[in-house]
Amino acid sequence: MAHCGVSQMSVAIGVGVDPCVRESGFKTHSVNLRGTTWAPVLSLDSKVPRVRSKNKSAIRMSVQQAISQKVAVSPLALEKAKEPPLNLFKPKEPYTATVVSVDRLVGPNAPGEVCHIVIDHGGNVPYWEGQSYGVIPPGENPKKPGSPHNVRLYSIASTRYGDYFDGRTASLCVRRALYFDPENGKEDPSKAGVCSNFLCNAKPGDKVQITGPSGKIMLLPEEDPNATHIMIATGTGIAPFRGYLRRMFMESVPKYKSGGLAWLFLGVANSDSLLYDDEFNKYLQDYPDNFRYDKALSREQNNKRGGKMYVQDKIEEYSDEIFRLLDGGAHIYFCGLKGMMPGIQETLKRVALERGENWDEMLSRLKKNKQWHVEVY
Ligand SMILES: Cc1cc2nc3c(=O)[nH]c(=O)nc-3n(C[C@H](O)[C@H](O)[C@H](O)COP(=O)(O)OP(=O)(O)OC[C@H]3O[C@@H](n4cnc5c(N)ncnc54)[C@H](O)[C@@H]3O)c2cc1C
Ligand SMILES: *[C@@H]1O[C@H](CO)[C@@H](O)[C@H](O)[C@H]1NC(C)=O
Ligand SMILES: *[C@@H]1O[C@H](CO)[C@@H](O)[C@H](O)[C@H]1NC(C)=O
Repeated sequence: MAHCGVSQMSVAIGVGVDPCVRESGFKTHSVNLRGTTWAPVLSLDSKVPRVRSKNKSAIRMSVQQAISQKVAVSPLALEKAKEPPLNLFKPKEPYTATVVSVDRLVGPNAPGEVCHIVIDHGGNVPYWEGQSYGVIPPGENPKKPGSPHNVRLYSIASTRYGDYFDGRTASLCVRRALYFDPENGKEDPSKAGVCSNFLCNAKPGDKVQITGPSGKIMLLPEEDPNATHIMIATGTGIAPFRGYLRRMFMESVPKYKSGGLAWLFLGVANSDSLLYDDEFNKYLQDYPDNFRYDKALSREQNNKRGGKMYVQDKIEEYSDEIFRLLDGGAHIYFCGLKGMMPGIQETLKRVALERGENWDEMLSRLKKNKQWHVEVY
């Protein structure tokens, strides 16, 4: 392992780009780990689908070894368009992409499973941070015999350059949907979610039909590089924010040098359920003035009323600052399960009332100013 030490690396390494893992997966390429631009180098003549397998400890290690210099990305032509790409591939003619890797993101004590899936689109399905891909799982639609399954949407969890910084991959953060019989509490595999199980069970080299990209609600407003971004995620709702944060703090993008504050609130069940925690902790270390990261662990922490700690309780804890930032023009984003919003809205309403403000008025102002971004499913 000596050749994987910090001393020989000159760029920051992100999830999925552990040089040791890359090396073993890229035997046909000449990899210069000492070079500052190895990421683009790797993408040269890689016509064969780049299939690698990784595991969680490899992901962990890659972050621990990272040193704080931003990573060069390519092709920079991905910055050129004025409008985001939209629906380049439609359900009738999806793009056939290749699975690069599937990794379990959560620890043994997390309820359920969440997977990080890297998909090679060969640069043919470009997207912007905050957009989604559609996935058509293989097989027949039980409701329409002879037809393919309906498209399922997944927020993209990488930047437009992908986890390999070469513009050829997109990553998804997928929760495996299981079904438990309410009568006896037993798992019923016949009712398990079709697409999420297909994705979480996929193997490197498997083909995956993708559509899109889609979505404009969660695009990162970049006109003001110094803007404040308050991100509220529950579970896999972290996906778009991982993309934002890599763009802000991991990648060297000449056109976008973020100098504002990014504040992430992440709600999950317990510490084993945290997602991309190592990446976020790295940003805290490297950009303490530009990044804040608050976690709500519902099954491990209690709120001040003694109940379970949810993201809205963290929002309440910091409500003075949050309201001040919103008054100053901050953007606020919400992503995750639909069920997160009522509790959050209630809290914001209560806080507003306590401050002598009218939440409904404030909300319509935030919407009118395009400061309010919600994508829940
Ligand atoms: C904009 C958008 C972004 C999204 N982003 C993400 C993301 O980043 N990550 C993510 O994980 N998800 C995301 N989703 C959700 C995703 O699209 C899918 O809905 C999810 O993965 C479930 O799809 P599935 O095919 O696995 O389940 P499906 O097969 O569609 O089943 C849906 C649910 O019904 C249950 N079910 C199946 N059969 C029965 C039955 N007979 N009786 C009762 N229940 C049954 C399944 O167990 C499952 O829970 C997003 C959705 C949207 C709209
Ligand atoms: C995971 O990766 C690490 C580092 O590459 C390796 O030491 C370990 O043996 C791997 N574990 C499994 C189960 O493959
Ligand atoms: C952003 O902030 C930096 C540092 O304070 C400043 O130099 C720069 O001019 C600001 N950019 C904009 C567009 O306001």
